[in-house]
Amino acid sequence: MDGNGRWAAARGLPRTAGHSEGEENIARLVRVAVRRDIGWLTLFGFSTENWVRPRTEVRHILGLHEKLFGRLAELNELGVRVQWIGRPFDAPDARTPRYVQRAIRKAIAATSHNTGMVLTIAFDYGGRRELCDAVAGVRARGLPMTPEDISSQLYLPELPPVDVLVRTSGERRVSNFLLWQSAGAAIRFTDCPWPEFDEHELDRALELVT
Ligand code: FPP
Repeated sequence: MDGNGRWAAARGLPRTAGHSEGEENIARLVRVAVRRDIGWLTLFGFSTENWVRPRTEVRHILGLHEKLFGRLAELNELGVRVQWIGRPFDAPDARTPRYVQRAIRKAIAATSHNTGMVLTIAFDYGGRRELCDAVAGVRARGLPMTPEDISSQLYLPELPPVDVLVRTSGERRVSNFLLWQSAGAAIRFTDCPWPEFDEHELDRALELVT
């Protein structure tokens, strides 16, 4: 979800205002995705590398995660099941504050009965780190290290292969996102900044797989 900062700067606003608008846009886009009958939507909210950003910006983005995970009435109305993907909270170098952990756990539990779209938020997530952890899991279990064994040790083994990967705001490279799961993904690069990514943008991405 690139481009929150640039979207804000273009309007003379602080970067935090761009992230706030980015969170509002998630709420809008989830509705559209449900209308389009998308089964699985996974969003990169915060990476393992994002902790080096200025403290005020990090705190703001964490607060927005608490806000998003707190939209329980909306999510339940839409039949959306919430999931989280990221470095385990009890990993030695994990830094997720308890209030974010609580919000994540609560959202997962409160939406677990829903049978509609699965909305997965990547928080404190890094694709390379996930693969290292999966390989360690395969070794610890004495498995033979086949692709199926690695898939079984990913953070969320139930997550299906990615059909379309979308990168916003003019970034034309893959990021450290779902590297294993994206092996066969179509990629849509768009200049649109995340806060303006709307249903037309989503439809352009879906054209790649329909
Ligand atoms: C990248 O754009 C965006 C982020 C690192 C954070 C994304 C966060 C949100 C969309 C808001 C909250 C998210 C959730 C899941 C609640 P950037 O900050 O690098 O902006 P720039 O590319 O214009 O500099």
